Amino acid sequence: MNLADLNKIAEAMVMPGKGILAADESSGTIKKRFDAIGVESTEDNRRDYRELMFRSTEAMSNYISGVILYDETIWQKAKDGTPLVEVIAKTGAIPGIKVDEGTKPLHNCPGELVTIGLDKLADRLPKYYAQGARFAKWRAVIDIGGGKPSHTCVMANAHALARYAALCQEAQIVPIVEPEVLMDGDHDIDTCHRVTEWVLKETFQQLYYQKVALEGIVLKPNMAIAGKKSAKRASVQDVAEKTVRLLKNCVPAAVPGIAFLSGGQSDEEATAHLDAMNKIGGLPWKLTFSYGRALQAAPQKAWSGKAENVAAAQRAFAHRAMMNGLASLGQWKQDLEKKAA
Ligand code: 13P
Repeated sequence: MNLADLNKIAEAMVMPGKGILAADESSGTIKKRFDAIGVESTEDNRRDYRELMFRSTEAMSNYISGVILYDETIWQKAKDGTPLVEVIAKTGAIPGIKVDEGTKPLHNCPGELVTIGLDKLADRLPKYYAQGARFAKWRAVIDIGGGKPSHTCVMANAHALARYAALCQEAQIVPIVEPEVLMDGDHDIDTCHRVTEWVLKETFQQLYYQKVALEGIVLKPNMAIAGKKSAKRASVQDVAEKTVRLLKNCVPAAVPGIAFLSGGQSDEEATAHLDAMNKIGGLPWKLTFSYGRALQAAPQKAWSGKAENVAAAQRAFAHRAMMNGLASLGQWKQDLEKKAA
């Protein structure tokens, strides 16, 4: 492992003004997104849709530091035959790859999941590296409510994340470490704060046990936020202050940056929260975005599977990317949203 090079990639992934596009929806998830816009999820449609984003030079060159790809996409070619990884790299963004293989029910823990994919990972990583991937992603899922999460679930997922991260670094790939505490329940922000603190502390303990070099990772956490079904909504400032406090208590300063998932927040909420955190300032790590839904909902809707809508979809993507780029600097303003495509 060359830690200086890993650190350089990690720093580039969280460079001020830019963030990560999570375009690594599994086949099942992208089908759900396409169903919502009335598009059939064929291999060509998935390619066309993702290609339109990667060819949105305005968004990609200015605001996107890296793109997380799904296994199918990293091997795909654009319509003109150029490998999609080349299209991405030409914009200056770094190609990355989701390497977990989804979740399975966790034994003895009803309703809880553990992320799988460690078995052949050491063999798969060099192939992804050869194809151009310089970072990877592994997502653990922790649910709140009805006695969840269990100690078993938190420990099993933190351990898998750390094993994955160590294998990535060995293969000269920067691991995005993503322990996601879901915002699906009716819990309040303080419950989310408490559970996320536990999950992050266990995750960093496991990273230590697996001898992962923190200078060569990017953390991808959820924000401290109330569950979607909670009657007690927290203000933007509350989310920002509680999330920053939480991270300061859990994330060592050696970590170059933190790139949040959007997790079901609306586009504008996800931007406003990131912006408010960066306005607090004085943080030991960069804070940016690694959004899936909050970057793609608008372009997906604008595209709706029609070739004549590609330019409008690219404008919608560029707008969201710019808003989030500004938020990564604490320079977003709500009235900029009116310029939306
Ligand atoms: P969302 O921003 O839609 O939560 O997706 C980010 C991601 O990569 C989840 O693993």
